[in-house]
Amino acid sequence: MRSIKRTSLIVANWKMYKTIEEAIRFVTELIPLVEASVPAVYLAVPFTVLHEIAIRCKSTKIAIGAQNMNEHEEGAFTGEISGRMLKEAGAKFVIIGHSERRQLYHESNELVNKKLKKALEIGLKPILCVGETAAEREKGDTIKVLTTQLRHSLADLTSEALDNLTLAYEPIWAIGTNQTAMPETAQEIHHFCRRFLDHEWGTHAGQTTRILYGGSVKPENAGKLMEQKDIDGLLVGNASLSVESFEKIVNYSNQHLTI
Ligand code: PGA
Repeated sequence: MRSIKRTSLIVANWKMYKTIEEAIRFVTELIPLVEASVPAVYLAVPFTVLHEIAIRCKSTKIAIGAQNMNEHEEGAFTGEISGRMLKEAGAKFVIIGHSERRQLYHESNELVNKKLKKALEIGLKPILCVGETAAEREKGDTIKVLTTQLRHSLADLTSEALDNLTLAYEPIWAIGTNQTAMPETAQEIHHFCRRFLDHEWGTHAGQTTRILYGGSVKPENAGKLMEQKDIDGLLVGNASLSVESFEKIVNYSNQHLTI
């Protein structure tokens, strides 16, 4: 049993999938299926569908957010989107530091830190992603890598700021590979993250920060992952693209909640 009540959360990360038409069809089907679910439901959608989908999900269980944002307020940054623009379009949250951004677009912990601060400043709830590669894991460096990512990504944030932040542990070797972390292994890492927050920001941060697991989550493994004491929710890529599997993940998680 969790000692402090942390609300559970299931997040869909659509990545670069879905046109406006496809997104409308998806939410129209999903809304009634998750209205009564216990976990909160977030959809991290492409920029182009955000506004339309946010309008359609208003006054429902579902909150809409983005998968990335720029760290500046505004300026000559061709092709970029600011947090303020996202907020105006209806975003409530933003994923920051996803491993695909870190690996493909070379986002450093320092940049992630700037983005986090900007998101918090303007009132967008950030979901910070951390996780190790297969090679780092094989070398036994998981904890070392996570410590560096957490320390630098969260630098200078107050424990009050952490109240509005969700952490997501996403082992890179598990993303899109069908190789989910064993629930017990994920639990150990989540426990480590909680202890780290505890140590650096105090017991309140350690106990109350919501920590999600991500990496090949499917309807078949969602329940077992959600049973773990320090796992408060799931960040779902592939399996969030169909209503059928995403709805199952939300509703299976329902039955396995320990809070
Ligand atoms: P996956 O992606 O569920 O397809 O592994 C998770 C993610 O990248 O957030």
